[in-house]
Amino acid sequence: MTSMLSRAVGSPVARLEGPAKVSGAARYAAEYPQDHLAYGWIVASPVARGRLDAVLTDPAEEDVLAVLWHGNAPELEKSDDPELAVLQSDEIRYRGQPLALVIATSIEAARRAAQAVQLEITAEDHDVELRADHPDRYTPETVVPDVPAGSDIGDADGALATAPVTVDVVYETPALHNNPMEPHATIARWDDQDLILYDSNQHPSGIAQTVAAIFGLTAERVHVVTEHVGGGFGSKGSARPNAVLAALGSLVTGRPVQVALPRQAMFSVVGHRAPTVQRIRIGATEDGTLTAIDHQTCTQSSRLLEFVESASVVTRDMYPVPNLRTGHQVVRLDVPTPRWMRAPGEAPGMVGLECALDELAVKLGADPVELRIRNSPSNPRYVECLRTGADRFGWSPRARRVDGEWLVGTGMAGATYPAQAMPSTARVRALGGDEYEVAIAAADLGTGARTILAQIAADELDVPVDQIHIRIGDSTLPQASVAGGSSGSASWGWAVTGACRELRSAGGTRDEATFDTTESVQQQKEDRHASGAHFAEVRVSTVTGEIRVSRLFGMFDGGRILNPRTARSQFLGGMIMGMGMALHEESVLDPAQGTWVNHDLAEYHIPTHADVEWIDAAWLDAPELDLNPMGSKGIGEIGIVGSPAAILNAIFHATGVRIRSLPARLDKLLPHLPTT
Ligand code: MOS
Repeated sequence: MTSMLSRAVGSPVARLEGPAKVSGAARYAAEYPQDHLAYGWIVASPVARGRLDAVLTDPAEEDVLAVLWHGNAPELEKSDDPELAVLQSDEIRYRGQPLALVIATSIEAARRAAQAVQLEITAEDHDVELRADHPDRYTPETVVPDVPAGSDIGDADGALATAPVTVDVVYETPALHNNPMEPHATIARWDDQDLILYDSNQHPSGIAQTVAAIFGLTAERVHVVTEHVGGGFGSKGSARPNAVLAALGSLVTGRPVQVALPRQAMFSVVGHRAPTVQRIRIGATEDGTLTAIDHQTCTQSSRLLEFVESASVVTRDMYPVPNLRTGHQVVRLDVPTPRWMRAPGEAPGMVGLECALDELAVKLGADPVELRIRNSPSNPRYVECLRTGADRFGWSPRARRVDGEWLVGTGMAGATYPAQAMPSTARVRALGGDEYEVAIAAADLGTGARTILAQIAADELDVPVDQIHIRIGDSTLPQASVAGGSSGSASWGWAVTGACRELRSAGGTRDEATFDTTESVQQQKEDRHASGAHFAEVRVSTVTGEIRVSRLFGMFDGGRILNPRTARSQFLGGMIMGMGMALHEESVLDPAQGTWVNHDLAEYHIPTHADVEWIDAAWLDAPELDLNPMGSKGIGEIGIVGSPAAILNAIFHATGVRIRSLPARLDKLLPHLPTT
């Protein structure tokens, strides 16, 4: 209707939530004032495997209201997610598993009492070490998000055996932890038979359904309030144990109960990106035409749940080679369950593929940009990202130089991420005087969902954006899909567009319209992707081995860019998170303790401002109006896909040292560097 003439969509509108956030007026899950609020503190398992025989507490602790464990906790209904069956059995499946919940009148008392609780445990031997030759590895049926674990076109082995040029390399990525700024938190309160949850998550509608089922309620009886969220990166996509524990605690004590995870618990109960060992074999002709790719990933999951990081899947979509095989194997270990972390599958998978492709380019003596262009005949938008990106970055394969103690080089890598939408429903109401309320149970992770939805509605209703009042972050609003899979804006914006168009087409005979996208979304069959190209310049000190990323540039196709200000922030955030993956982030496993030992932000290193020297992103801004009414593709994840590989390839270009095990720390590099 009006979308082609839009004024709001595509402009850098800001909706001024900043003052509310920096002044503390914006409320996050743990900040809702409650009468008689009680505080829950988790007693975490100190062992990775065994049985909990008893929990002994000191009855003299006065401020303690209850100590719940499987010996006394109310029985829960079965859940699809066995990790949510908290305090239900004596089985210990991972270190950090909640074994008891202490509820007290202050957070200090709860923590003190939790530290004083004595656990009687029968420990068993555990196994937490992923090895590609682990005897218990097996081929799963499906991998995340629910796609076949394997694919096989042509004859990869045969083509590799006869290919004039080949690479055969193994890339390893470590376990990574999401670590949003706001740790997971819930305040639960029972109101007669209804359950109210103030919860930090990416999917209020889904959390309400999951928690309702666990407590034997219908979804309408659970009210999830998620007004503001300080990030999630996938770890808040489904209900986590904190929500169930808070609800249990409130049920038993009759008070509102808060369970706010300390940073250290973020390394056990909310998920992680599983480590991968990837073997990539590529065959090509002398002139750089790819003839075969085989990408095999070995990864881990927990004893509780099979969740398989789909690192090989991205290779199915990237380059159309005649002989293409991909596969996954998984080992179930005594570790916390891996979950979604920004671009699950694509982020580690593109390290393997795009670094191996760089190794091929070196063997061929080919420009890595030209090699990719040559092998992407059916992907014009990717090619345009490669060409435009190379141009804007000032790409030159001859850019290697020495500057005092610093070796300077450049690298690049491609990027892709599925463009998808999921069923959602939105409601729009005319409030009179050209003011409208738009309601949908979406969650804003801090990315600007309110702003985007207001822009979309303003254009559809042909009113200024400040006359749109957005209501999101509440499960009692029309049901919305998860803020994940880079699908939020496409999914919710589609529903908002539909509702606005219905209201307008009613021509003033109605003051409210609701639109459910389920049918339209299901009719969409074609696989579509956002694409991108990353370019990096690094310098490496021959004295210390220190790696600095002096320039990082990303060129993207995200369809129509709904708001350049928020889009840029998403692109840059993803690229910087990719820098963390390349250089800093690594959950270090202690096999004896069965846990990651660097479980805080002092020891788990993420990039800081000082690590970012020069960074920029640009985009084609080419709407694809047959994809959804806005013509947009998701952009939340593509920034992290490819940026680690670009940096690793630049390190090789600068130093001649190929790092195949992430992160590229100076101790891996230094022994191999030339002395200057
Ligand atoms: Mo993202 S890992 O799909 O929240």
